[in-house]
Amino acid sequence: MDKLIVEGGTKLRGEVTVSGSKNACLPILAACLMTNEESVIHGVPRLVDIIRLSRLLGELGVKVQRDENDPFTLRVQVEDESKHLARYDLVRQMRASICVMGPLVAKRGKALISQPGGCAIGDRPIDLHLQGLRAMGAQYRLTRGGNISLRAGRLKGRELFLGGPFGSSVLATANVMSAACLAKEVTVIESAACEPEIVDLADFLNKMGARISGQGSPRIRIEGVRRLGGAEHTLIPDRIEAGTFMIAAGMTRGEVTIKNCQLDHMMAVTANLRLVGVTVEKISGGGHGKAGAVVVKTGRKLRAIDVTTQPYPGFPTDLQAQLLAMLCLADGNSVVTDKVFPDRFMHVGELGRMGAQLRKQGPAVVVCGVKKLVGAPVMASDLRASAALVLAGLVAEGTTEVRRVYHIDRGYQRIEEKLNALGARIQRVTE
Ligand code: EPZ
Repeated sequence: MDKLIVEGGTKLRGEVTVSGSKNACLPILAACLMTNEESVIHGVPRLVDIIRLSRLLGELGVKVQRDENDPFTLRVQVEDESKHLARYDLVRQMRASICVMGPLVAKRGKALISQPGGCAIGDRPIDLHLQGLRAMGAQYRLTRGGNISLRAGRLKGRELFLGGPFGSSVLATANVMSAACLAKEVTVIESAACEPEIVDLADFLNKMGARISGQGSPRIRIEGVRRLGGAEHTLIPDRIEAGTFMIAAGMTRGEVTIKNCQLDHMMAVTANLRLVGVTVEKISGGGHGKAGAVVVKTGRKLRAIDVTTQPYPGFPTDLQAQLLAMLCLADGNSVVTDKVFPDRFMHVGELGRMGAQLRKQGPAVVVCGVKKLVGAPVMASDLRASAALVLAGLVAEGTTEVRRVYHIDRGYQRIEEKLNALGARIQRVTE
């Protein structure tokens, strides 16, 4: 098992390039189940989650291979449509495997998928996914071993509400929107997720021949078609990786240029960073809908703020842990609330080991700013909390050991290499 040894005290300076979006890539790869033609996806980051989904798709008869000329391009083609089981061993490692459910039911009329269960950030129910597919005519039942068995003839378009107790659901929207592409007639999803990753998925599906409109708004309309073809697509930049580097630059009081950054996906992030005292300025490209380069600068000190995560376009829950780590060093008291995953605070105890003054109060955490953090051995628990601990190690006095680094590798491509290129001193050690 790997761990990262982080030496504190460096100001990050230099240039870093953001990779393609993991959370756009996963449902796009799953959508390839809905055609027998080859699709080509560019800008695919080399991440454990992408490898895991590729392995699951392999078990579902889909060949996924890296292009021999470009390691960031995947060629995807269905070779065998007789498979429909998504095994527990694969699904339990990555809840996002559930994104194969809609495409499988729509194209093959059946799916046998292990229920994702819970994880470090909280419960991961799939009731909205199932409600949406049932509304379009799919039947499902719980089978032995915690699997969900789904059956359907050709799905039928419906007007359906997909909001849950925490608002919209990203992957439920992905599943229902994808399945609706092959349904009879028209489907309207009310309370759809508006995330840029859903827009990217819709753009890919339309290139496959789907007829989707309204993506990016809470109301998406899908006119069903009989078949979908292969498509070629370049993924949007990963706004969560970009936000992680913006916060890293801010915490270390450095000055970092971030390339391949799509600022119009990050308004809530840059607005909150500006309140803290971290400015993000466009330096080239990056017109609406385009990626460009930005420079991140920080004032003399960090200001305390109150922040609540929301579904897009609100502040993303996937940057909550990283922002909280930065607020540990702000001048004053901050209140951080996660409205999407209320229990997503496994990083609080670990940051406390580094001298942070944090107090959980109901759905929120009160952060009393301190002058410094001190290095300590800490335990990563989930993908984004791990990144937050690495960022805290960058500014802590002394050495911080972040264990269970496999969490980080799920969503960041060798994060220590990108941070070391900015002047950080991080060593990966295999225990
Ligand atoms: C996606 O997960 C992301 N994963 C998560 O990123 C992200 O944190 C999350 O959206 C919220 O933005 C991928 O895109 C692969 P949800 P998803 O369904 O779709 C509740 C990362 O770090 N809910 O939008 O699984 C749920 O409990 C990962 O890259 C239901 O109640 O999340 C949560 O409170 C972590 N019933 C809220 O909705 C359902 O059927 C939002 O969850 C589904 C969800």
